[in-house]
Amino acid sequence: MVQLKSKPENLRAVAPSADTGTSPVAPRDEADRRYVEVSGVGHSYSRNGPTVLRSIDLKISAGEIVALIGRSGSGKSTLLHIISGLMKPSDGAVRIDGQRVEKPSPRWVMMFQAPSLYPWMTVAQNAGLGLKYAKKTEGVDARVKEVLSLVDLAEFADRNVQDLSGGQQQRAAFARSIAPEPELLLLDEPFSALDIFTRRALQNDVREIAKRLGLTVVLVTHDVNEAVQMADRAVLLSSGPGRIAGDTEINVSEADRVSQSKKFQMETTRLRTLYTEIAGLG
Ligand SMILES: Nc1ncnc2c1ncn2[C@@H]1O[C@H](COP(=O)(O)OP(=O)(O)OP(=O)(O)O)[C@@H](O)[C@H]1O
Ligand SMILES: [Mg+2]
Repeated sequence: MVQLKSKPENLRAVAPSADTGTSPVAPRDEADRRYVEVSGVGHSYSRNGPTVLRSIDLKISAGEIVALIGRSGSGKSTLLHIISGLMKPSDGAVRIDGQRVEKPSPRWVMMFQAPSLYPWMTVAQNAGLGLKYAKKTEGVDARVKEVLSLVDLAEFADRNVQDLSGGQQQRAAFARSIAPEPELLLLDEPFSALDIFTRRALQNDVREIAKRLGLTVVLVTHDVNEAVQMADRAVLLSSGPGRIAGDTEINVSEADRVSQSKKFQMETTRLRTLYTEIAGLG
């Protein structure tokens, strides 16, 4: 578990409730679910090509962690690219915080399965790259120090990234993602290449950090266990074309997530059953 060495005072919480002083965590009310709004999104990669996504309507609250689960080819990565503005949908639109998404922005960052760090740079230089791209010049060193400490890599700051294990590299990539203080993280199976223990530690840490910072997260995964470990809510995609076929809250306490208690196992079984039914539709 990552221990926070200092409270990240300068990290922005993006909850709609920030002005009321209430918790930023996952408002359940449908009316609050408008921080990310995917409306009528459909997609084909070519004019006469197959429909990859059809009529996707999805609303996500600020501070909510949503797992997007679906079989290979169901369009999860396509939807994530569309939300991020890296791809334009054939139909429909995405709004983030009320603004139509037309292109990528430092307010939302994507993180992929491979950490894609620059091997000739140190851990600190890699962690600072997002800040460089966001054209931040002031306070860069302090911010890099802060995020590296957040992911427990403070003592690796001056090491070459090639000296890090796979899990540590993924932590460095996560530090780089959160350094520019994004509001929204879009994670595309970021832990799938890691061994089960490293993966579980990172899943817990990323959830804890995201909740602490009030980040909204969309996490693409095949892994039901990962969804229950990390998410407040699971959205299930059926395939051919990808459509939303299920949307369910994940009700387990933080303690149950960390200990993977009986309650956690029951929730995993419930979600797996739902997913099996839906995946069978594809
Ligand atoms: N650049 C592309 N050009 C044409 N078709 C594509 C392209 N990228 C993806 N596709 C097709 O779109 C469909 C959805 O792909 P996508 O990568 O979104 O699925 P996914 O759910 O992320 O799968 P996986 O779990 O394997 O990563 C697939 O049938 C795929 O072949
Ligand atoms: Mg994918």
